[in-house]
Amino acid sequence: MSQSPLSLPQARGLGQTQRKDKWWLQPLVVFLGLGAFVVYSTWAAFQGAHYEFGPYLSPMYSPLLFDAGTAFGTGSLGHHTWFGAWPAWIPAWVPASPALLILSIPAGFRTTCYYYRGAYYKAFWADPLNCAVGEPRNGYRGENFFPLLIQNIHRYMFYLAALYIVILAYDAVIATQFQADWAANGGKMLFGGEGGAGFGIGVGTLILTLNVILLGGYTFGCHCARHFTGGNSDHQSKLPLGKKPYECISCLNRNHMKWAWVSLIWVGFTDFYIRMVSMGIWIDWRLF
Ligand code: FES
Repeated sequence: MSQSPLSLPQARGLGQTQRKDKWWLQPLVVFLGLGAFVVYSTWAAFQGAHYEFGPYLSPMYSPLLFDAGTAFGTGSLGHHTWFGAWPAWIPAWVPASPALLILSIPAGFRTTCYYYRGAYYKAFWADPLNCAVGEPRNGYRGENFFPLLIQNIHRYMFYLAALYIVILAYDAVIATQFQADWAANGGKMLFGGEGGAGFGIGVGTLILTLNVILLGGYTFGCHCARHFTGGNSDHQSKLPLGKKPYECISCLNRNHMKWAWVSLIWVGFTDFYIRMVSMGIWIDWRLF
């Protein structure tokens, strides 16, 4: 059967396609999901309050370089500050919210992630709306030119994000060290008891621990991590750290999109949980 030659590139108007499937569904879900997270996290970052409760610290405020002094709504410092109270040398026009000092790292890591780039280029810029669907532009400049050239800093963002995983793991350990003010401020023992100071496991401890596991799965499944541990080598026998780390990271990398979404949702929920117990709306139950 003879076929007429196909000339490339094919010019299509915005949204034109021969696809019969629901090609619009995925970008729509990404638009709603990412949009909701950006709105919530921006709002939470500017609050500068209700980011800690007892031994818990919201991951959106970690590391807590300076404490805005709103622990338990008392004006006192919480238990997580690295360098003390919010310093006077920070200009008054900067909102007194510790999250604003540190959020650029996780935000930069996610924004430059290879998966998210493919997702939000489609969902927010329609560039293209989806594969084989007409887009609003005819030219393609790619990521070789400013401003998208900046996306190439992703490998450096990976180093910083890996450091954050260590810090968040430390926070999860700290979340087992309860102080006496935990019960005084509304925490309750699930099976009775005094809920005094010392080692314990609360619902918040479990939430923070799962948070660091999910973020670790996302971060160490990064394409850059895979590249460093062996993706750049043609010889499996000469991998810098041996075969096992490369295989583990490859395994995480195969599900990178799932790790990206689950960890994103859980970060938002973790902040929300700590916000709720800090405001006294939810009770933080302690198992022992
Ligand atoms: S590619 Fe997604 S975090 Fe690096």
